[in-house]
This record gives sequence, structure tokens and C-alpha cells, in this order.
Amino acid sequence: MIIAVDGPLASGKGTIARALAAHFALPHLDTGTLYRAVAVAVTDSGAQPEDAKAAEAAALALDIAAIDESRIRSAGAGVAASIVSAHPGVRAALLKLQRDFARQPGGAVLDGRDIGTVIAPDAHVKLFVTADPEVRAGRRHAELINRGEQIGFDQVLGQLRQRDARDASRTEAPLMKADDAVELDTSAFTQDEAIRAAIAIVEARRGS
Ligand code: DC
Repeated sequence: MIIAVDGPLASGKGTIARALAAHFALPHLDTGTLYRAVAVAVTDSGAQPEDAKAAEAAALALDIAAIDESRIRSAGAGVAASIVSAHPGVRAALLKLQRDFARQPGGAVLDGRDIGTVIAPDAHVKLFVTADPEVRAGRRHAELINRGEQIGFDQVLGQLRQRDARDASRTEAPLMKADDAVELDTSAFTQDEAIRAAIAIVEARRGS
């Protein structure tokens, strides 16, 4: 069983994908990690995330085992990830790895922006997780403050709106709900409620 979980920043898709993976005993890939790692590698090499050639080279050379979790989670890495992810060469370089992960024998859970549309259009269950921008910015702000980053709510909301627009407007694999995806709006949900709702959706689809 392949479960595709897509949605914008801080919609709750990561938490939901991890919980689904644990519940159904499936391996999980957070595909945003790949774009974030490419962004950090590009910046480390002295190039700008806007540099398509440098970004593609970094994507082709990506070593998943060497990804430094603490560095890729910063707000800056997220913004740079959104920029490198718009380069078609970067997306092409990361495609096979993600498809192979999705198609491993027992199934898998993947979360990102284009899992249900591009990476695994044949996924058995597709969730499109959303929430209001202010709710998402509040969650993201709390997360960054928790990690010791000095950043205001308004700045987080501004970055979030910019990233939403960039992720949704790029020509290559934009953030988009697949026709056969089930939308789950988590604005009014606690984490537990959102997870329970997601499990119910998967159970219903699986049984059908
Ligand atoms: O989910 P995230 O915030 O870690 O993702 C960081 C950026 O990576 C996001 O702004 C867009 C890009 N991304 C993508 O283009 N496709 C994916 N499947 C996952 C992430």
C-alpha cells in the first residue's frame, strides 16, 4: 500500500505521514528533507539557490546518509529549499530515489508536494492536508521558537505566504491536489484529531 500525503508548509502533513507510517507499519520518507539538503549543499558550495546548474549538481551528488537534520530544519533552509525545488533539473535528479522508495515491496508513506501527482500517481491512498495560513504560521512559529530561532510571527506568516505562492506557481510539479486525493483540513484539529481522521480515511480507502 502506497500512501501519498501532500500539502503546504505546516499543514500537519509531516506529523500525519509519520503517524500513518507507524500505525500501518510502513517505511516513511519526508521528501522535503531532500530539497532542504540540496539547498544547504548549494549554499555550502558558495552558490545561490537560484543557480539552476549548481542546484542540479548538488541534487545529483546528494548523499542521504549524510543529511544533517539540525541544519536543514532552519527557516533559511526552508526558503532556499523552495527556490531549488523549482529547478526542473533538481526535481528530475530526485525523482528515481523517491519512486524507488514508494515502490518497495511492502509499500510506503511519502509526504511532500507532488507525491500524489508526480512521484506516485498510482498511490492507493492520497491525502491532501491543508489548514488556514494563520494557523500554519502559528504552528511553524512555535516550532522555530522552540528550536531557539529568533523570529517573529509576522515574518513567519510572510515567508509562508511567499513559499505557498512559489510552490503553487512553479511550472514543474506545482503543489496541487490530485483529482483522486481526499482533502483533510486540520485548521480546527488537535494533532491527535488530525491523525485519527487520517487513519480513518486510509482505512476507508483500503477497504474499498
Ligand atoms: O515540506 P518542507 O517544508 O520540508 O519542504 C521544503 C521545500 O521543498 C518546499 O517549500 C517545496 C519543496 N518540496 C517540493 O518541491 N516537493 C516535495 N515533494 C517536497 C518539498
